[in-house]
Amino acid sequence: MQPTSINDQRTGAGLGGVEPRVEQASSGQVSERKSDRTMLQIWMNGEFVPEDQATVSVFDHGLLYGDGCFEGIRVYNGRIFKLDSHLKRLFRSAEKLRITIPYTLEEMAHALREGVRVNNVVNGYIRPVVTRGYGNLGLNPFQCERPCVIVITATIQLYPPALYETGMKVVVANRPRVDKKALDPAVKSLNYLNNIMAKVESIDAGVLEAIMLNNEGYVAECTGDNIFGIKDGKVFTPPVDAGILEGITRNFVIELCRDLDIPCEEKLFTIDELVQADEIFLTGTAAEIMSVTHVDEQQIGSGTPGEVTNRLLAEFRRRTGTDAPED
Ligand SMILES: Cc1ncc(COP(=O)(O)O)c(C=O)c1O
Repeated sequence: MQPTSINDQRTGAGLGGVEPRVEQASSGQVSERKSDRTMLQIWMNGEFVPEDQATVSVFDHGLLYGDGCFEGIRVYNGRIFKLDSHLKRLFRSAEKLRITIPYTLEEMAHALREGVRVNNVVNGYIRPVVTRGYGNLGLNPFQCERPCVIVITATIQLYPPALYETGMKVVVANRPRVDKKALDPAVKSLNYLNNIMAKVESIDAGVLEAIMLNNEGYVAECTGDNIFGIKDGKVFTPPVDAGILEGITRNFVIELCRDLDIPCEEKLFTIDELVQADEIFLTGTAAEIMSVTHVDEQQIGSGTPGEVTNRLLAEFRRRTGTDAPED
């Protein structure tokens, strides 16, 4: 993990965890506690408010219908990793939902930087959220008033740090990923129920992640991460049209492969092909690069993080350590 800062000492849990103290649940998952919290300053519709005043209406369609979109962004050593790519994806998501964000990309970038500054975050996590806004109890999004725009700047620890040394077990979810024809996977929407229920499947199985297949039975991605395999030194990952979110960490890792002269191919593959891989790893803003050692009961390769995965993780940490790219 990155060097500790004062903020890391109040590292929280799960997506957007903000707690000063972290408890390890029996599942190995890190759980949140709501005590001793340092009050965060939340940017909401143009101004900072203390987190206990950062509230949305019960008539907001973000709450009523999951109608809206969001991003998750890491801060490394005070730099906002891939800020531009994340904000472009946020604006693209909103546009596809036909939500007009009432700020420019530059104004949002300024809000994020201010959130980092006022909350003294050195290594942390930013969660911009755009909801459809205040409306009535009907579905019609166009009867809603102005979108509600929120920026939460906090810390995150998705998985216990020890898992980065040992790798982790995953299962294959029974439920498929929502089909790309039903919902465009490029929209990082506030409705994550498909992923949450697959995550519940993994927790029921005693692990922390689940691989989701698409409707054709090909490997798509995990509940909050993209997936890669490595066979005979060659890296492979599903193409975007497998119906996945085009992860910004995924794209960065593809770039790393190119720079390290590691062949990397985007192709469709089944779970049977995947478990024949020598190594498997997951990528995501929160997860970073996480080795997978078992899929269901099947051991992958040696059952420990493999050489190529470790090389990519080391390079990822090197590049994000001091001067993380913000583009
Ligand atoms: C479903 C899904 N796939 C993949 C990812 C990884 O994307 P990124 O690397 O941009 O965080 C995420 C996390 O945002 C996700 O929710």
